[in-house]
Formats: sequence, C-alpha cells, structure tokens
Amino acid sequence: METLQSKELKLQKITPNLGVTILDIDPNAAMDHKTAKEIDMLINTHHLVLMKSDKPIEREAQVNLTKQLGEPWRYDYIPGQYKDYPEIFKVTNQKGNGFTNAGQVWHSDGSIYNKRMHLSIFSIDKIPIDGASTYFSNLNYAYERLPDTMKQRLSTLEGNFGKMYRSHPVVWKHPITRIDLLHISEGFKNGFIDGANSNSLSFDESQEIHRFLNNHMWKENTYYEHKWKLGDLVIADNYAVAHLAKPNYSNTLRVLHRTATKGEKRAKRDET
Ligand SMILES: [Fe+2]
Repeated sequence: METLQSKELKLQKITPNLGVTILDIDPNAAMDHKTAKEIDMLINTHHLVLMKSDKPIEREAQVNLTKQLGEPWRYDYIPGQYKDYPEIFKVTNQKGNGFTNAGQVWHSDGSIYNKRMHLSIFSIDKIPIDGASTYFSNLNYAYERLPDTMKQRLSTLEGNFGKMYRSHPVVWKHPITRIDLLHISEGFKNGFIDGANSNSLSFDESQEIHRFLNNHMWKENTYYEHKWKLGDLVIADNYAVAHLAKPNYSNTLRVLHRTATKGEKRAKRDET
C-alpha cells in the first residue's frame, strides 16, 4: 500500500479512495496541539484516520484525544454506560453492556439531527470470538460514482425523517471542504420530499430510490472493512463517511467505545 509523508507524520493509505493510517503516533500517548492540527488536516483530506497502539486504548486517552480535536459530546448517564466518562458512548451486542441498537445500516452518526456530530472516534474494548468489523464508505466517492441521471434526480430530494426531525437533503456539500456528498440514512425508508415543489414522492418511487441507494452503497470494492484489533483507534469524519457494524453470529461480547465531537448546524438545501 502506498506510503505518504506529511510534514511530521508517517502515513499509509488504507484504500485508494478512503482513509489513512498514521504509523508513528501511539493513540494512548498524550497528543500536543500541533499534532492535533495535523490530524485535523488529514481528516479533511482522507476522512478516515487510523492509529494503532500495542495496548488497548485507555478511556482517559480517548477522551483527551477527542478534546484535542473538537468539543466532545457528553451523554447523560444511563445504566450500562460509564459514570466517570460522560464523553464515552458504549456500543455493544449484549444488553446491560451499553447501547445495543446501533449501526445496523449505513449511516453517519448524528446525521438526522439539525446539529450534527463532526467526528466519531472509535476503539474496541471487547472482541467477540468471531471477530469484530466495521464497514466504512466515502460519501464523496459514493456521490461521484452515481450515474448522471441519478445525480440529477437526487439533487432536489430531501429525506423525510418524520415529525420529530427536519427533512435533510440527499446531496449536500461538506461544510469544511465543500466537496459533494451523498447523504445516506436508513431514515430514507420513510420516504422523500421533492424540495423543488415540497411534494412527497409516492411510496413506490421512494422505495425504489431507497433500494437503489442501498445497492449502490454495497457495490463491491467501494467500501472498507475494518477488522478490529485491540489498540486500534479510528477517527471518522461523519460529514463524508458512512459506517455500519458487521453483524456477529457468536453470542460473545462485543464492546466499542465511541466518542464524538460537535459539528456544524446543518444548512438547508439551498444554503449548501
Ligand atoms: Fe454509528
């Protein structure tokens, strides 16, 4: 795999269209402001950043790293989560060990909210006997490889997320880099609104687009499967990357630690 050189860091591309591994940073070590700035630039360019430690990622280290990259989300304590680490959201496959209803379909964390999550930072805490994987996909690449007719069709559509949330454009621009992005969400199964005339699409037409987008995201060689090892830390740019957990078939415990940084307020379609 191609090795790149940033000013300070030794890098290796993960796939041709997504992500970079920083080879010479231990994510368990304290990070200075200058390094955090450089990582921030790498996130804007590659959208997915992987670092590896030879020890499991410590909770304190993950929270500190998150604070260097932005303002962390904090969660109200609920049983199964960590009382002492309100920034860490535990995601699991077994009740009582954290949140169990996460990541079954392609999504970006917080994408249905008006105020989004910018970065999601993941580490693995418990790996089931059949392994743990998360799939990641570049949403700029997902947009660029759409047929022109579909780009045109999607350009005015908004996902209808029901009464609790505002509808969101299916195509929008990255708030920092201004690249075009395909927004992908299971919320799309609720249907679409044509923003050009505010009419809802018919059930059949909405289902057809939803199916098309799902198939589009699962095209071979378009996504990256990260096979977790203890000590891995992955930073995903939620604006430009969708992810989902690969299901486990063993009954053994899987626990992922997620921290996140606060993001931009989402613009309306005509402001993007
Ligand atoms: Fe997620």
